[in-house]
Amino acid sequence: MSFIHLRQLTKLYRNSVQPAVNSIDLAIEQGEIITLLGPSGCGKTTTLRMIAGFEQPTSGSITIGNELVYENHFSVPPEKRGIGMVFQDYALFPHLSIEKNVIFGLNKWSGREKRKRAKEVLDLVGLGEYGSRFPHELSGGQQQRVALARALAPKPHVVLMDEPFSNLDAGLREKMRFEVTNILRKANTTAIIVTHDQKDAFAVSDRVVVMNKGVIQQTATPREMYRCPKNCFVAQFVGKTNLLSGTLCDDMQHVDTHIGKVSLPSQSESILEEVKVSIRPEGCRLAEKGRYAGTVQRVTYSGEYQEVEVRLGSVAEPMIIYAPIEQEIEIDSIVSFDITPELVALVEN
Ligand SMILES: Nc1ncnc2c1ncn2[C@@H]1O[C@H](COP(=O)(O)OP(=O)(O)OP(=O)(O)O)[C@@H](O)[C@H]1O
Ligand SMILES: [Mg+2]
Repeated sequence: MSFIHLRQLTKLYRNSVQPAVNSIDLAIEQGEIITLLGPSGCGKTTTLRMIAGFEQPTSGSITIGNELVYENHFSVPPEKRGIGMVFQDYALFPHLSIEKNVIFGLNKWSGREKRKRAKEVLDLVGLGEYGSRFPHELSGGQQQRVALARALAPKPHVVLMDEPFSNLDAGLREKMRFEVTNILRKANTTAIIVTHDQKDAFAVSDRVVVMNKGVIQQTATPREMYRCPKNCFVAQFVGKTNLLSGTLCDDMQHVDTHIGKVSLPSQSESILEEVKVSIRPEGCRLAEKGRYAGTVQRVTYSGEYQEVEVRLGSVAEPMIIYAPIEQEIEIDSIVSFDITPELVALVEN
């Protein structure tokens, strides 16, 4: 049985027509790190707040451990759900020292135990020496680690984090992704992390849940999600892609598109004839005598790769291809390329 189970969970706010969260089902295993990923307003925070118990669902149920914590107006209060929460703005108390901030949620513990636990979790996040400082004397990344230490202090079974990386610059962000997952794994904590950033989601989680308009679009490992996006929304929201319309061939393994026949990684079971394929830019490799050819319209240099827009035939929408940075590519030149079937997927509308 799963550790956290959401069943048909729905939230319709008063004065709203559309539910913010619309009948979502999700099962999370113990120790798993899950991210909720989706555009602004898709219902991520609402989902997190319902799990924490700060927001009452309109319908559905929530189980944590073996305990039903919400169903039909029966609701276990937030402090009894065994959950630690890290808020988007960290919500540290500015007038309390770091140690006192961490101790804050431990009211049932004795004074000595509290201080021991505070030292333990501050050591865990690498801030053992900072207990006597105040929040304004720490950097953003350090404050975030304090917020995490505070959430972990009461030994919760579950940690919920709302946009934990959003206030950090690129370098610190990368470091924190690594540190946070390390800390969660060490404590064997089940975690749900909300983000609207695909890189954050991919870097930290075992599985990613993509949401749009209150509905779960796909739940999958980062690799599965990237290679086999379920529908057009996921394909476009998670990384860049080329979406082409086409006709499924009789062999069920090729799609006829305006750039020619495109191979699928395996035989399709689609019952439709008119289909859409997603082709990742990484799946298109420039090759001297490649199967597809077109004219280079634009080259954007990113430092890690070059994004090349190639126009094929008379179709206005160019294909996006990633090329290695050392390759010289001139605008208006003709290039040819091959497509790796493993990065091609049939997607629903
Ligand atoms: N207290 C509220 N009362 C009414 N509507 C609300 C309330 N809180 C959120 N909403 C609405 O519910 C929808 C989902 O909001 P939510 O905060 O869950 O989105 P989100 O995915 O966390 O977005 P963001 O990435 O911008 O934080 C939005 O349309 C929002 O306007
Ligand atoms: Mg939010």
